[in-house]
Amino acid sequence: MNITILGAGAIGSLWACRLANAGHSVSIWSHKPEKSDVSITLDDKNPNRFITNSVLQLKNADVILVTVKAWQVKGSISPLLSHLTQETIIVFMHNGMGVIEELPSTIDKHPVVLATTTHGAFKPDKHNVHHTGLGSTTLGGYNHLGHQCQFLSDVFDHALPSAHWSDSINTALWNKLAISCVINPLTAIHQCLNGDLLQEKYSTNVVQLVGEVSTVMKAENIEVCSEALLNTVHQVISATAKNHSSMQQDIQYKRATEIGYITGYLCKVAQRHRINVPTNQDLYSRIRTIEQSWS
Ligand code: PAF
Repeated sequence: MNITILGAGAIGSLWACRLANAGHSVSIWSHKPEKSDVSITLDDKNPNRFITNSVLQLKNADVILVTVKAWQVKGSISPLLSHLTQETIIVFMHNGMGVIEELPSTIDKHPVVLATTTHGAFKPDKHNVHHTGLGSTTLGGYNHLGHQCQFLSDVFDHALPSAHWSDSINTALWNKLAISCVINPLTAIHQCLNGDLLQEKYSTNVVQLVGEVSTVMKAENIEVCSEALLNTVHQVISATAKNHSSMQQDIQYKRATEIGYITGYLCKVAQRHRINVPTNQDLYSRIRTIEQSWS
């Protein structure tokens, strides 16, 4: 397939290399291309060379995989839409929720697929990426046309297992949101590793956060059991114990975080249902205060 990856961060570069190694024709679209191609090496193996920012590749793309940060999605995909044919499948893979709702309605002419992944990746510089945590990927249709793209899970699974299709991607996204609402702001505020959250001093906070998210999920008619969700959160913390979360890194390097689409989204939905989420609200304000202190 002809695949263009929009955003060559850690996750985008990991997928670019794995899809290219699986035999697909992969190009990259980035917001600041230095040359007409870029070489990226995955785990110190053979370097892959990718054409960058080619309108021709975009016009021929069967799939656009959007891996930019949640707050960059609208600005990145909107100017490209006029180059795409209506058959081009757009796959969004970012942290958080509430992004697609902000996009121009013309997006709906395309099959739109949402994806969430628990793979860990680290990009120490622009030519190297490391697959730091084996995870899994869930894909599912967002619109009517997107629901007809089940075959994509085989394409993704072949390139980087495991990947599977879900008929209710919303449930998968809410479960990932719950994990992110706990791990991301806590590790960012305390500037710690994911695994540090297993310490006793964080346990009350973790339980409160999971409790608040489950209450909101129930109000949204998402099937959830708070004990099972707490277990899942603990499992992800253990599985990614040595990782720095994306928000921990964003705060460390003074980059805008995805808090608005993670905890911010949770708080907005909670407000709509008149549910109090004080622990999430507190973490949201603390991250915003840190971001504002830079300017
Ligand atoms: O954003 C991240 O870093 C990851 O989504 C997760 C699962 C929270 C673990 O680090």
